[in-house]
Amino acid sequence: MEASFWHEKWNANEIGFHQSKPNTLLERHFEALVPTQGSRIFIPLCGKTLDIGWFLAKGYRVAGAELSESAIKQLFEELGVTPDVTPVGKLTRFSAPDIDIFVGDIFDLTADLLGDVDAIYDRAALVALPEEMRGDYARQVTKITGTAPQLLLTFEYEQSEMTGPPFSIDGETVEDLYSDIYRLSVLERAEVRGGLKGRVNAEEVAWHLGKA
Ligand SMILES: C[S@@+](CC[C@H](N)C(=O)[O-])C[C@H]1O[C@@H](n2cnc3c(N)ncnc32)[C@H](O)[C@@H]1O
Repeated sequence: MEASFWHEKWNANEIGFHQSKPNTLLERHFEALVPTQGSRIFIPLCGKTLDIGWFLAKGYRVAGAELSESAIKQLFEELGVTPDVTPVGKLTRFSAPDIDIFVGDIFDLTADLLGDVDAIYDRAALVALPEEMRGDYARQVTKITGTAPQLLLTFEYEQSEMTGPPFSIDGETVEDLYSDIYRLSVLERAEVRGGLKGRVNAEEVAWHLGKA
Protein backbone atom coordinates (compact mmCIF):
# COMPACT_ATOMS: atom_id res chain seq x y z
CA MET A 1 0.00 0.00 0.00
CA GLU A 2 1.35 3.41 -0.93
CA ALA A 3 1.28 6.25 1.58
CA SER A 4 -1.25 8.01 -0.67
CA PHE A 5 -3.71 5.10 -0.20
CA TRP A 6 -3.78 5.72 3.57
CA HIS A 7 -3.81 9.52 3.33
CA GLU A 8 -6.83 9.27 1.03
CA LYS A 9 -8.57 6.94 3.49
CA TRP A 10 -8.04 9.39 6.36
CA ASN A 11 -9.02 12.43 4.24
CA ALA A 12 -12.24 10.72 3.15
CA ASN A 13 -12.85 9.43 6.71
CA GLU A 14 -13.04 5.89 5.29
CA ILE A 15 -11.68 4.30 8.44
CA GLY A 16 -13.67 1.10 8.80
CA PHE A 17 -10.67 -0.40 10.63
CA HIS A 18 -11.16 2.06 13.54
CA GLN A 19 -12.97 0.27 16.37
CA SER A 20 -15.53 2.09 18.50
CA LYS A 21 -14.19 0.50 21.67
CA PRO A 22 -10.90 -1.02 22.82
CA ASN A 23 -10.08 -4.36 21.23
CA THR A 24 -11.51 -7.33 23.12
CA LEU A 25 -8.47 -9.57 22.65
CA LEU A 26 -6.25 -6.77 23.91
CA GLU A 27 -8.40 -6.41 27.02
CA ARG A 28 -8.40 -10.17 27.59
CA HIS A 29 -4.69 -10.87 27.22
CA PHE A 30 -2.38 -7.90 27.54
CA GLU A 31 -2.13 -7.40 31.28
CA ALA A 32 -1.22 -11.06 31.81
CA LEU A 33 1.66 -10.72 29.34
CA VAL A 34 3.14 -7.36 30.27
CA PRO A 35 3.20 -5.89 33.77
CA THR A 36 1.78 -2.37 33.90
CA GLN A 37 4.24 -0.58 36.13
CA GLY A 38 6.47 1.61 33.99
CA SER A 39 6.01 -0.47 30.83
CA ARG A 40 6.21 1.41 27.53
CA ILE A 41 4.23 -0.10 24.68
CA PHE A 42 4.99 0.52 21.01
CA ILE A 43 1.98 0.55 18.68
CA PRO A 44 3.08 0.48 15.02
CA LEU A 45 0.67 1.98 12.47
CA CYS A 46 -1.45 3.16 15.38
CA GLY A 47 -4.08 5.35 13.70
CA LYS A 48 -6.22 6.96 16.39
CA THR A 49 -7.11 3.66 18.02
CA LEU A 50 -9.03 3.77 21.30
CA ASP A 51 -6.60 1.08 22.45
CA ILE A 52 -4.19 3.94 23.21
CA GLY A 53 -6.62 5.37 25.75
CA TRP A 54 -7.04 1.88 27.22
CA PHE A 55 -3.27 1.55 27.71
CA LEU A 56 -3.01 5.01 29.31
CA ALA A 57 -5.93 4.33 31.64
CA LYS A 58 -4.25 1.11 32.77
CA GLY A 59 -1.05 3.00 33.60
CA TYR A 60 1.07 1.96 30.62
CA ARG A 61 3.13 4.43 28.63
CA VAL A 62 2.59 4.48 24.86
CA ALA A 63 4.70 5.16 21.79
CA GLY A 64 3.19 4.98 18.32
CA ALA A 65 4.03 5.40 14.66
CA GLU A 66 1.49 6.67 12.16
CA LEU A 67 1.63 8.16 8.66
CA SER A 68 -1.38 10.42 8.97
CA GLU A 69 -0.96 13.70 10.86
CA SER A 70 -4.71 14.19 10.63
CA ALA A 71 -5.25 10.89 12.50
CA ILE A 72 -2.89 11.95 15.27
CA LYS A 73 -4.43 15.40 15.64
CA GLN A 74 -7.79 13.65 16.06
CA LEU A 75 -6.23 11.19 18.53
CA PHE A 76 -4.99 13.98 20.84
CA GLU A 77 -8.25 15.94 20.51
CA GLU A 78 -10.18 12.83 21.50
CA LEU A 79 -7.81 12.20 24.43
CA GLY A 80 -8.39 15.82 25.47
CA VAL A 81 -4.65 16.49 25.57
CA THR A 82 -2.60 19.19 23.84
CA PRO A 83 0.64 17.64 22.53
CA ASP A 84 4.07 19.23 22.15
CA VAL A 85 4.91 18.95 18.45
CA THR A 86 8.58 18.65 17.47
CA PRO A 87 10.27 17.84 14.16
CA VAL A 88 12.63 14.87 14.58
CA GLY A 89 14.51 13.99 11.39
CA LYS A 90 11.97 13.09 8.68
CA LEU A 91 9.27 12.60 11.33
CA THR A 92 7.22 14.80 13.64
CA ARG A 93 6.85 13.79 17.29
CA PHE A 94 3.57 14.53 19.10
CA SER A 95 4.24 14.17 22.83
CA ALA A 96 2.35 14.52 26.08
CA PRO A 97 2.87 12.84 29.47
CA ASP A 98 3.17 9.06 28.91
CA ILE A 99 2.61 9.27 25.13
CA ASP A 100 4.86 9.90 22.12
CA ILE A 101 3.54 9.43 18.59
CA PHE A 102 5.90 9.64 15.63
CA VAL A 103 4.10 10.92 12.56
CA GLY A 104 5.57 9.80 9.25
CA ASP A 105 6.78 6.59 7.65
CA ILE A 106 7.60 3.87 10.20
CA PHE A 107 10.63 3.00 8.06
CA ASP A 108 12.12 6.41 9.00
CA LEU A 109 11.84 5.68 12.72
CA THR A 110 15.04 4.64 14.50
CA ALA A 111 15.68 2.91 17.82
CA ASP A 112 17.33 6.11 19.13
CA LEU A 113 14.31 8.25 18.32
CA LEU A 114 11.82 5.70 19.59
CA GLY A 115 13.55 5.07 22.92
CA ASP A 116 13.05 2.09 25.21
CA VAL A 117 10.17 -0.25 24.44
CA ASP A 118 8.97 -3.06 26.72
CA ALA A 119 6.40 -4.60 24.40
CA ILE A 120 4.73 -4.20 21.02
CA TYR A 121 1.01 -4.24 20.31
CA ASP A 122 0.23 -4.92 16.64
CA ARG A 123 -3.45 -4.59 15.78
CA ALA A 124 -4.38 -3.91 12.15
CA ALA A 125 -0.73 -3.16 11.29
CA LEU A 126 0.79 -6.36 9.84
CA VAL A 127 -2.61 -7.28 8.37
CA ALA A 128 -2.78 -3.86 6.68
CA LEU A 129 0.31 -4.56 4.59
CA PRO A 130 0.54 -6.43 1.28
CA GLU A 131 2.71 -9.53 1.15
CA GLU A 132 5.73 -7.79 -0.38
CA MET A 133 6.00 -5.31 2.53
CA ARG A 134 5.58 -7.73 5.43
CA GLY A 135 9.19 -8.93 5.71
CA ASP A 136 10.57 -5.38 5.73
CA TYR A 137 7.92 -4.34 8.25
CA ALA A 138 8.69 -7.25 10.61
CA ARG A 139 12.44 -6.54 10.39
CA GLN A 140 11.94 -2.81 11.02
CA VAL A 141 9.64 -3.31 14.01
CA THR A 142 11.97 -5.82 15.65
CA LYS A 143 15.07 -3.73 14.87
CA ILE A 144 13.82 -0.48 16.41
CA THR A 145 12.45 -2.19 19.52
CA GLY A 146 15.32 -4.60 20.23
CA THR A 147 12.94 -7.52 19.58
CA ALA A 148 10.53 -6.56 22.36
CA PRO A 149 7.78 -9.15 22.91
CA GLN A 150 4.54 -8.66 21.01
CA LEU A 151 0.83 -9.16 21.22
CA LEU A 152 0.04 -9.60 17.53
CA LEU A 153 -3.55 -9.75 16.29
CA THR A 154 -4.19 -11.21 12.86
CA PHE A 155 -7.19 -12.13 10.76
CA GLU A 156 -7.59 -15.48 9.06
CA TYR A 157 -10.11 -15.86 6.25
CA GLU A 158 -10.34 -17.19 2.73
CA GLN A 159 -8.31 -14.57 0.84
CA SER A 160 -9.96 -15.38 -2.49
CA GLU A 161 -13.28 -14.13 -1.07
CA MET A 162 -12.11 -10.57 -0.44
CA THR A 163 -9.16 -8.35 -1.29
CA GLY A 164 -7.32 -6.76 1.61
CA PRO A 165 -6.58 -4.76 3.57
CA PRO A 166 -7.02 -6.28 6.02
CA PHE A 167 -5.23 -9.27 4.58
CA SER A 168 -5.47 -12.83 5.85
CA ILE A 169 -2.29 -13.80 7.67
CA ASP A 170 -2.05 -17.50 8.40
CA GLY A 171 0.13 -19.25 10.98
CA GLU A 172 2.73 -20.22 8.40
CA THR A 173 3.21 -16.56 7.50
CA VAL A 174 3.57 -15.52 11.14
CA GLU A 175 6.17 -18.28 11.57
CA ASP A 176 8.05 -17.24 8.41
CA LEU A 177 8.20 -13.66 9.63
CA TYR A 178 8.94 -14.16 13.28
CA SER A 179 9.95 -17.67 14.34
CA ASP A 180 13.68 -16.91 13.98
CA ILE A 181 13.55 -14.41 16.80
CA TYR A 182 10.48 -15.19 18.91
CA ARG A 183 8.79 -18.13 20.57
CA LEU A 184 5.29 -18.09 19.09
CA SER A 185 2.05 -19.15 20.72
CA VAL A 186 -1.61 -18.66 19.88
CA LEU A 187 -3.49 -17.27 22.87
CA GLU A 188 -6.98 -17.27 21.38
CA ARG A 189 -8.98 -17.51 18.18
CA ALA A 190 -12.23 -15.57 18.11
CA GLU A 191 -14.83 -15.54 15.38
CA VAL A 192 -15.35 -12.09 13.87
CA ARG A 193 -19.02 -11.45 14.60
CA GLY A 194 -20.98 -10.65 11.47
CA GLY A 195 -17.94 -11.45 9.33
CA LEU A 196 -15.04 -9.25 8.30
CA LYS A 197 -16.39 -6.05 6.74
CA GLY A 198 -19.74 -7.84 7.03
CA ARG A 199 -18.72 -9.99 4.07
CA VAL A 200 -16.54 -13.00 4.86
CA ASN A 201 -16.30 -15.44 7.72
CA ALA A 202 -13.09 -14.73 9.59
CA GLU A 203 -11.26 -15.40 12.81
CA GLU A 204 -9.24 -12.90 14.77
CA VAL A 205 -6.18 -14.62 16.21
CA ALA A 206 -4.15 -13.38 19.18
CA TRP A 207 -0.49 -14.37 19.04
CA HIS A 208 2.08 -13.96 21.77
CA LEU A 209 5.56 -13.44 20.38
CA GLY A 210 7.75 -14.03 23.41
CA LYS A 211 11.46 -14.12 24.05
CA ALA A 212 12.93 -17.22 22.36
C1 LIG B 1 -5.61 -0.47 9.17
S1 LIG B 1 -5.07 0.99 9.91
C2 LIG B 1 -4.95 0.49 11.60
C3 LIG B 1 -4.84 1.61 12.59
C4 LIG B 1 -4.82 1.14 14.05
N1 LIG B 1 -3.79 0.16 14.32
C5 LIG B 1 -6.16 0.62 14.47
O1 LIG B 1 -6.24 -0.50 14.97
O2 LIG B 1 -7.17 1.37 14.35
C6 LIG B 1 -3.40 1.09 9.37
C7 LIG B 1 -2.75 2.42 9.69
O3 LIG B 1 -1.38 2.37 9.31
C8 LIG B 1 -1.00 3.63 8.83
N2 LIG B 1 0.19 3.38 7.99
C9 LIG B 1 0.23 2.71 6.82
N3 LIG B 1 1.49 2.63 6.35
C10 LIG B 1 2.29 3.25 7.27
C11 LIG B 1 3.68 3.50 7.35
N4 LIG B 1 4.54 3.10 6.39
N5 LIG B 1 4.17 4.16 8.43
C12 LIG B 1 3.31 4.58 9.41
N6 LIG B 1 1.97 4.37 9.38
C13 LIG B 1 1.46 3.72 8.32
C14 LIG B 1 -2.21 4.13 8.08
O4 LIG B 1 -2.25 5.53 7.93
C15 LIG B 1 -3.35 3.61 8.97
O5 LIG B 1 -3.74 4.56 9.91
